[in-house]
Amino acid sequence: MAQRKAYVGGNWKMNLDRRASVALARAVAEAVGRDASVQVTIFPAFPYLAAVAEVLAEVGTSVRLGAQDFFAQPDGAFTGEVSLSQLRDVGVSVVLVGHSERRHVIGESDVLINEKVRAALEAEMDVVLCVGETLAQREAGQTDAINGAQVSYGLAGVTAGQMGRVTIAYEPVWAIGTGKTATPADAQAAHRAIRGWVRSGLFDGDEAVAQSLRIQYGGSVKPANAAELFKQPDIDGGLIGGASLKADDFLAIIEAAR
Ligand code: PGA
Repeated sequence: MAQRKAYVGGNWKMNLDRRASVALARAVAEAVGRDASVQVTIFPAFPYLAAVAEVLAEVGTSVRLGAQDFFAQPDGAFTGEVSLSQLRDVGVSVVLVGHSERRHVIGESDVLINEKVRAALEAEMDVVLCVGETLAQREAGQTDAINGAQVSYGLAGVTAGQMGRVTIAYEPVWAIGTGKTATPADAQAAHRAIRGWVRSGLFDGDEAVAQSLRIQYGGSVKPANAAELFKQPDIDGGLIGGASLKADDFLAIIEAAR
């Protein structure tokens, strides 16, 4: 089985001001240093990306800078939107796509999400594609079907060669920001099904694509539950919201992933 490097993301969402963003980035960068045994990406709010990029460069770290969203068009009359080349220009190399808050609060469709995935990969960004079922879908026994569908739509048109730059984050909607975490066994079952679907449903039995794909778990990950989740064979780290806003908690979760 392929050895997958653990991957922990800190999704800061619409939180923190400039000062707190810079301080948190510095604390994380200094603690992680140039450690190559685990991959860490932080996703600050747009206005602070450039300031955080400067801190990461100044500290000298393997921590990467990610953006929470972008618009798929290269440039033009799209008031309020931000392009991939603008993000690249301020030091971003990773983008989140299809986060449940963008799907369910903002209303992004699978078509738009796929457009974004393909645009980001064409722009040579790394992509974290988020998928996950709602509580009603879980209770109706549709977890694997929903994840399979979101993965299929999200990755439509993506080549096996591009998959090296794709990470999937499985984030059950009912577990995000609620304090409810999937049990390690439930999360493992969902991750295993997603990996299986990527192999047999999307890439024609391509074992190398399936085995090298990293699948993060997200949804109320904390220092207290991280190790148990990350121990599961198909869980390759986490996408962390609330607990990524405190350096100590986030660093403890990174430690659990090592
Ligand atoms: P949470 O958020 O850790 O606060 O549940 C996770 C996410 O939305 O990525």
